Amino acid sequence: MTGPIWLGPRRAAALAERFGTPFYAYSARTLRARCRSLARAFPGAAVRYAMKANANPAVLDLERREGMGVDTVSPWEVRLAREVGFRKRDIVYSGSMPSDDDLAAVHREGVTVNLDALTSLHRYGKRFPGARVSLRLNLEIGGGHHPHVITAGPDSKFGLSADDLPEARAICATHGLQIVGLHQHIGSGIFEASLFLDALDALLACLGDFPALEFVDVGGGFGVPYRDDERPVDLDAWGKAVTARFDAAVASYGRPLTLVLEPGRYVVCEAGLLVARVTTLKRTRDRVFVGTDSGMHHLIRPALYQSWHPVATWPRRDVKPERCFVVGPICESGDVLAEDRLMPVPEEGDLVVVGNAGAYGFAMASHYNLRALPAEVMVDGDEWTLIRRRERYRDVIPR
Ligand code: LLP
Repeated sequence: MTGPIWLGPRRAAALAERFGTPFYAYSARTLRARCRSLARAFPGAAVRYAMKANANPAVLDLERREGMGVDTVSPWEVRLAREVGFRKRDIVYSGSMPSDDDLAAVHREGVTVNLDALTSLHRYGKRFPGARVSLRLNLEIGGGHHPHVITAGPDSKFGLSADDLPEARAICATHGLQIVGLHQHIGSGIFEASLFLDALDALLACLGDFPALEFVDVGGGFGVPYRDDERPVDLDAWGKAVTARFDAAVASYGRPLTLVLEPGRYVVCEAGLLVARVTTLKRTRDRVFVGTDSGMHHLIRPALYQSWHPVATWPRRDVKPERCFVVGPICESGDVLAEDRLMPVPEEGDLVVVGNAGAYGFAMASHYNLRALPAEVMVDGDEWTLIRRRERYRDVIPR
């Protein structure tokens, strides 16, 4: 099967039988295809996958084999990336509000450190004079699918403003920090190329003030369609436009520069499904609740951002579609996977498959209500591999 629900009734049932529910399933084919589309659309660019979107080691390993680097935001992300085999030079660390311990840990790993506060530069420089750094800028152009994921603009905690730059340069000079990169990430779930290009222009306009750059990192954020009426971004067109502007800027900069991208969602979103089982079908006066063994603790996006994810129920039931609320076992009324969705009402024991769950799904899962994190399975053609087992009581409550 293709499309967001790429697992049909028979295979979903076989996997559920084998591994139990709930579980995340990832399509290795889709993951590879997304890596290759990026490489084709942005020839010559270094793609650093934003591992916050999905940090399963098997997913990371697949991407490493496809030639990607990795964008990290915590010392343990750096540690895992190294463990999976990413080379130091292919890892960027862009943590927000890093502690001294964070800075020391990532410095020890020898990866490129991207900083976005004057005091972080100062603390880093004092401790590690002469180190290489990149600066994250906030040039007031931001965007994204929800206010929570817009990461530039006047209200954002991210980035140095244009006004901060003279002082940032002075701090770096004081400590001999070498500014080797400029970075920005304007937000997540962006569909308008024009917004991305305006932000790119603003970033490229800053190059002249930084004579020793090696790379320019334009962040991630490429939108992925979730709803039927959303269209995929034209990545090739986007790539052409970005590359043309970047090449022109490099020509006037006068030294070679690497273009860096940090997509997360684009790489993993459509490859992932969450498969749950209907535990309880409940009709109230006004609503039909399809209760499942997964919920906001495994996929928080519908509760947190009111995100719409495609949903199918297996097996196909030949019954009149009704408006259903697909919910989980968590003790909150916000525990929804799909709201008010017209669908054939499933029976208890049927499977619910939630699409576009590969990005920020498992990665944002929690133990809320003391429930285990689900299993994760990689599906590669006719083969499947358990890539993380379901948690047990002692994994959640260590002694
Ligand atoms: N680079 C940096 C510095 C980032 O902070 C992010 C995402 C990315 C790259 C990758 O962005 P992407 O290509 O995935 O849009 N939990 C939210 C998304 C939060 C994104 C956070 N930063 C969601 O589920 O929609």
